[in-house]
Amino acid sequence: MARRLAGKVVIVTGGGAGIGRGVAARCAAEGAAVCVADVDGDQGSASARAIVDAGGQAIFALTDVTDEASVAACIGATEAAFGPVTGLANVAGIYPRATLDETSVALWDRVIAVNLTGPFLMCRAAVPSMRRAGGGSIVNVTSTNAYSGLPNLFAYSTAKGGLLTMTRNLARGLTPDRIRANALNPGWVISDNEIRVQAGDGHDLAWIEAAGTRQPLGRQQVPDDAAWAAVFLLSDESTQVTGTEMNVDAGRSMPGQGGSG
Ligand SMILES: NC(=O)c1ccc[n+]([C@@H]2O[C@H](COP(=O)([O-])OP(=O)(O)OC[C@H]3O[C@@H](n4cnc5c(N)ncnc54)[C@H](O)[C@@H]3O)[C@@H](O)[C@H]2O)c1
Repeated sequence: MARRLAGKVVIVTGGGAGIGRGVAARCAAEGAAVCVADVDGDQGSASARAIVDAGGQAIFALTDVTDEASVAACIGATEAAFGPVTGLANVAGIYPRATLDETSVALWDRVIAVNLTGPFLMCRAAVPSMRRAGGGSIVNVTSTNAYSGLPNLFAYSTAKGGLLTMTRNLARGLTPDRIRANALNPGWVISDNEIRVQAGDGHDLAWIEAAGTRQPLGRQQVPDDAAWAAVFLLSDESTQVTGTEMNVDAGRSMPGQGGSG
């Protein structure tokens, strides 16, 4: 049976850990040639190596999504290895907790740079490559906090709201190029960083698992939950899907469910 991403060339930012590592692995398992783009060299190269060890195609590109030259090098390395880019998953993100009163200008600038300027730079650099491919698909990992806001993630929620708007702009502007753009909103995903964040609050893995039983669908979310949705959006199964926002949040954002991650 043909794999769902056979012949696709996909860049996954933040592909070294958490949701991004899950997206990269799942895309490769579905037949894509994957560029793992991450600012963390150890994690990023390990993620790409795991794909190759499992029989998939992957390279690692040391990439800081906030840096224009680094982003250009990532696109160049991907094209050199696999040809024009057909898919871009903007997953890299940071979510330091800070309320309005706690948000310094330096923190604000950093959060906006990684979560909003990064996807902009990646899209601007990848789109010419997608045009050369004859089309493409962009998946921006946002957050349901973009709708609801979360007081202790003030800059983060604001950046993700901007990314939702950017996604709609991309979708509208790139239809003549047959390039689609969609937002993917995870819920509360137990990623590498989320485990560290919870540990900082005194919550161990047993606490996290117990909290999962109180989620609407009865368990915690894992990176693969978002990865399956990304595969759909990056594949030809979704060639008529653009400008959408897909909530993969176990229903946490439904009215009465108590917010989302
Ligand atoms: N975990 C959740 O509950 C949750 C919920 C909603 C949305 N999200 C979003 O999903 C994405 C991934 O989150 P995660 O929990 O897997 O995080 P994570 O910290 O586990 O992984 C993020 C990866 O991004 C990389 N990265 C950070 N800054 C970068 C930069 N400047 N350039 C390139 N790579 C960079 C990190 O090195 C890391 O490998 C983020 O955009 C986050 O906002 C997460």
